[in-house]
Amino acid sequence: MKPDLRTASNDDAAGTKKITFCGIEHRIRVDLTSGDASIVIHPVDDGGFLCLTTIRKTMPTIVSVGSGKGGVGKSVISSNIAYLLANSGHSVTLVDLDAGGADIHILMGEFQPRFSLTDFIEKKVATLDEVAQRLDGFARLRMIAGTGDSLQTANMPAATRAKLLRHLRRIESDIVVVDVGAGTHFNTLDFFLAGDIQIGVTTSDPTAILDLYRFIKLAVIRKALSSFLSQDTISQIIKKRDIKDIDELTSIAAEYGDDKRQAIDKSINELVLCIVFNQVTEIPTARFSRLQVLLQTYLRVKNLHLLGKIPEDQALRNSIGKYQPVSSLEPTAIASLALQTVCEQILIRIQEFQAK
Ligand SMILES: Nc1ncnc2c1ncn2[C@@H]1O[C@H](COP(=O)(O)OP(=O)(O)O)[C@@H](O)[C@H]1O
Ligand SMILES: [Mg+2]
Repeated sequence: MKPDLRTASNDDAAGTKKITFCGIEHRIRVDLTSGDASIVIHPVDDGGFLCLTTIRKTMPTIVSVGSGKGGVGKSVISSNIAYLLANSGHSVTLVDLDAGGADIHILMGEFQPRFSLTDFIEKKVATLDEVAQRLDGFARLRMIAGTGDSLQTANMPAATRAKLLRHLRRIESDIVVVDVGAGTHFNTLDFFLAGDIQIGVTTSDPTAILDLYRFIKLAVIRKALSSFLSQDTISQIIKKRDIKDIDELTSIAAEYGDDKRQAIDKSINELVLCIVFNQVTEIPTARFSRLQVLLQTYLRVKNLHLLGKIPEDQALRNSIGKYQPVSSLEPTAIASLALQTVCEQILIRIQEFQAK
């Protein structure tokens, strides 16, 4: 019998907690720093060991979906990808972290979700699993609805953001798909960076591609600086100057010590950056090559993958009106077939990531 860790603690700190297990109150020691829960259970009465066990809690692989510009298809892609990944046998939780336009629940046909992220942010529940809602007709798929019109996510304090990011890792699913929204607010960048695999969505529109580059640039800079600076210092540096490339970042970092170049390189090498072109018939090869050159030359991104393209499809638009992912409603529509190909590419990246 597995103790319910949610009853063990309503805060995030590791340490000794009390739980009721098999009708008896026990003290447990929880170490969640490595993602494992190593638990020593002993009765409160005599302090002697009752059992000593280690539970391996497998962490989910997080796939984040972001863009520089709004309206390029992030929510549509996130919801369809989540559906297809669940359909391929994985347990999936789809999380709406778009502060500006939380609408995933509408795309999934849930107009009035029973729970939302707000319940977690307002501490009405202790874990994200408690606000994850099963969806009728979709096996293995759960959804965490966004905060709707509330500004809770947009104005989220750094501590709440950090807590939310920690809890994303604890969601009980094989895969967590996160729609992070558009723009360069710190919250959005951090939610994007929370992904083990990051998907940048763009159309073929040059402004959407440029905005995606700017978005990725800020995310990369934020990640690189996070490896050795506090959040406050990072915010000040980013606000004060427009850092052009990693060389400029490295020279800033040199002010904080000689070993920072390695920290920067390591943090950039961890990125698994994937690009999806939406609403295109053909991949705009020349424009993608330019984006690739910018990312590799200026940001030294090594792990860059073009996942594919999704055509403009009336069937997809119709599916939105029917509040269902097109992949479920019309699996043979051209957009659905393209989304399936993108999903297969994501699964390859997930396998590579998990094998590391
Ligand atoms: N492949 C596509 N084919 C047809 N329409 C699309 C496609 N992708 C997106 N759209 C349209 O664009 C709108 C915006 O998509 P959405 O996923 O909400 O963008 P974002 O989340 O990036 O703001 C959708 O409501 C839909 O009408
Ligand atoms: Mg959206």
